[in-house]
Amino acid sequence: MAQHWTDALASWAIPQPILDAATRDPWMLPVARFAGRADRAVADPAGVSFERAAEVLREDQGSVLDVGAGAGAASLPLAPWASSLTAVDGQAAMLEAFAERASTVGIGHHEVLGTWPAVAAEVAAHDVAVVHHVVYNVADIVQFLAALDAKARRRVVLELPPHHPLSWMNPLWRQFHGIDRPVSPIAGDVVEILGAMDVADLRAEYWTNADPAAADGSDSETLEERAALVTQRLCLPVEREPDVALALADIAPGYHREVVTISWTPGSSRV
Ligand SMILES: C[S@@+](CC[C@H](N)C(=O)[O-])C[C@H]1O[C@@H](n2cnc3c(N)ncnc32)[C@H](O)[C@@H]1O
Repeated sequence: MAQHWTDALASWAIPQPILDAATRDPWMLPVARFAGRADRAVADPAGVSFERAAEVLREDQGSVLDVGAGAGAASLPLAPWASSLTAVDGQAAMLEAFAERASTVGIGHHEVLGTWPAVAAEVAAHDVAVVHHVVYNVADIVQFLAALDAKARRRVVLELPPHHPLSWMNPLWRQFHGIDRPVSPIAGDVVEILGAMDVADLRAEYWTNADPAAADGSDSETLEERAALVTQRLCLPVEREPDVALALADIAPGYHREVVTISWTPGSSRV
């Protein structure tokens, strides 16, 4: 199953001729979108993933490790019950957005720039590890999960959509490039992989985010703003934004509302 995950993620590579013609990075993650997401999460902490982490910290305050933290949507809402927050991210601009918000919230914080698990050796063990919307970026999923297990004492909480977060764009790839995009891997694959690792108290909860704006922020963007990013993601030039906007008008916003919370008690993985 781990090999299936790696192969399925590799199949998301954009065909080279399309990539060669692109002038902008199709995989770009806009810091502003994740900053907005973090701000909404702090203003209104809610959801199954939040609860799974908070319930452990409410019992006894503890440190929180946020891997692939972005601007901190997963960890900042836990600040009232956390002794400190550590954010790991491969992008410096995301960590800056996180640090600014952690200071505003008034919690001790620490940032580690780099990719997980390569930087895991620089990170101490924490009570709770949270990892929201990251694993569809991770080819070597077993090493990633095992390093999390090793650096968490009381609970690990992953959040991810049931399907690849860009799979909602598959009809657009067909429309604009005439190609079919993959449909796997899926969240259930992560559950299977963790099952094979024999982690304790493994739980997978499928739920719908009641607040669409809390999902990924795209609902609060204008059609033009969404079209600009999607045009870039489709490796199309800026001049195609009106065409993309027209196509987007037929696609209901609200993707990423369906989410899965996977949690387990660390310390027992077999890797
Ligand atoms: C989709 S964003 C999610 C951010 C945040 N967790 C949230 O829920 O809003 C994914 C983030 O993970 C980071 N990232 C992806 N793979 C990573 C890895 N292997 N190690 C560290 N950061 C990673 C990206 O730079 C990005 O900031």
